[in-house]
Amino acid sequence: MTKSGSAVKVLFVTTELAPFSKVGGLGDVAGSLPKALRQAGVDVRVVTPAWPGVLERVAALGVKTTTVRAKVYAAYDWRIHSANIIKASVDGVTTYFLDAEDYSGSQYPSQLNFWSASPFAVFCMQALELKNAIDWEPDIYHCHDWTSAFLPCALAWHRHYRQTGGKSIMTLHNVAYQGIFEPYPFLEASGLEPWSFNSSTMEFYGQVNLLKGGIVAATAVTTVSPTYANEIQTYESTRELSGILYQQRSKLRGIINGLDVKFWDPNGDKSIPAKFSVKDLRGKAACKKALLERAGFDPNSEAPVIVCVSRLVEQKGFDMVFNAAGQIAETGAKLLILGSGNDWIENGIIQASEAYPQSIKLFRGYDEPLSHLMYAGGDIFLMPSVFEPCGLSQMISMRYGTVPVVREVGGLRDTVFDVDRPEGGNGFTFLTCDVDGMMWALRRAVERYNNNKVQWKEIMLEGMREDFTWDKSAGLYKNLYDELMQ
Ligand code: ADP
Ligand code: GLC
Repeated sequence: MTKSGSAVKVLFVTTELAPFSKVGGLGDVAGSLPKALRQAGVDVRVVTPAWPGVLERVAALGVKTTTVRAKVYAAYDWRIHSANIIKASVDGVTTYFLDAEDYSGSQYPSQLNFWSASPFAVFCMQALELKNAIDWEPDIYHCHDWTSAFLPCALAWHRHYRQTGGKSIMTLHNVAYQGIFEPYPFLEASGLEPWSFNSSTMEFYGQVNLLKGGIVAATAVTTVSPTYANEIQTYESTRELSGILYQQRSKLRGIINGLDVKFWDPNGDKSIPAKFSVKDLRGKAACKKALLERAGFDPNSEAPVIVCVSRLVEQKGFDMVFNAAGQIAETGAKLLILGSGNDWIENGIIQASEAYPQSIKLFRGYDEPLSHLMYAGGDIFLMPSVFEPCGLSQMISMRYGTVPVVREVGGLRDTVFDVDRPEGGNGFTFLTCDVDGMMWALRRAVERYNNNKVQWKEIMLEGMREDFTWDKSAGLYKNLYDELMQ
């Protein structure tokens, strides 16, 4: 609520948006949190780039669009960058897709330098300009990760935008990606005042660090779980940036992510062959059968099925998985992995699946419908992350009665609790980040599945009954918005 009593106006500035441009959990959050905020009484809108294929996906999903008469303009690198504004109502949330040549490249450039980082700076400036093209002016710009971290920097240090006012929130979904590149010719071409480039602002060991700038410049900083909010203030977790996060801790808070529980619902999911729920679990067996068949395994196998749905990057700990291939095969379980990412990880998994073809299968790539079948058809969900800001996959798996085995880190620690604690739990956890640690938890899960079907069902139901809605966390974001408006 603003001082005048009207609803606070918040613009979500995001470069990923499910279901149009999702790469990982950031896309899910940007696609679901605004809906919950709207229900909580926040006047929230979303702006996002129309990356290649996005407008086609919008059309394919039957979302109606109109083109706003005015365009947005931003001065950057000594020229004017303009974008068409395509407006849509996505499940009731007003969303602006910015369509321009600037967004015709890669959503995540493999090499970062001034030129490949430019679309992200231009996007932030166009987001600041949006109010001039539409009849609505945000009170707060809510930015996400390094890709929109230029916006708080511009509000603080840009020779034009620092005069314009406006508050900003920087939400950290993953501090491992910071938007670091050489300062030349950024300092001259960005419009930021030269004095904004020093060690207490965006300079980082001689380089530009957009995320660092965003953290320092933003009015408030949030991250996606309470445990990760503590972890990132330590050198062990965030190396050189940890000092800045510690210094800025008074404006940092951890708010756990929720899920779009309507979208991730085993009782309404159209991508799975049979529906199921807490009240009637029977459909899950049909999903398991279909998944085994899809993997080329015996559909009637009673062995536990371990599933992973993940980006295959260092963060997710898959080197532990392929290094443990022989031990996993020995348990008698089947291991099915859906994902893509770094070559060395993909190759490690491919080799493991060639060595144990009766036990391990990799579905390489990004496949939304198959991910639903994996969540529904699995018995155990394995997520041995080295670090995990929040993690949505473990929550999705619990919704689908697939019991998580996770490392106790970040948001995994806040959402998965070991069943062997005196007070019980909803999954199996381990602490030490190595094959022995992971196998200790995984073996317990496999043994429990094989030998104690009654307890297994209880664990499944415990996870399925968890409240993963956005309700509570949307309330916490709303409180933060209200505090910033005081
Ligand atoms: P992160 O954001 O670090 O990738 P999260 O657990 O927060 O991890 O979110 C991952 C999201 O991306 C989940 O919705 C998951 O189902 C989805 N996902 C990851 N890899 C794939 C894939 N290969 N195919 C389909 N969906 C995937
Ligand atoms: C990031 C993190 C993940 C988190 C997601 C959404 O991609 O890696 O843990 O769930 O953002 O906040």
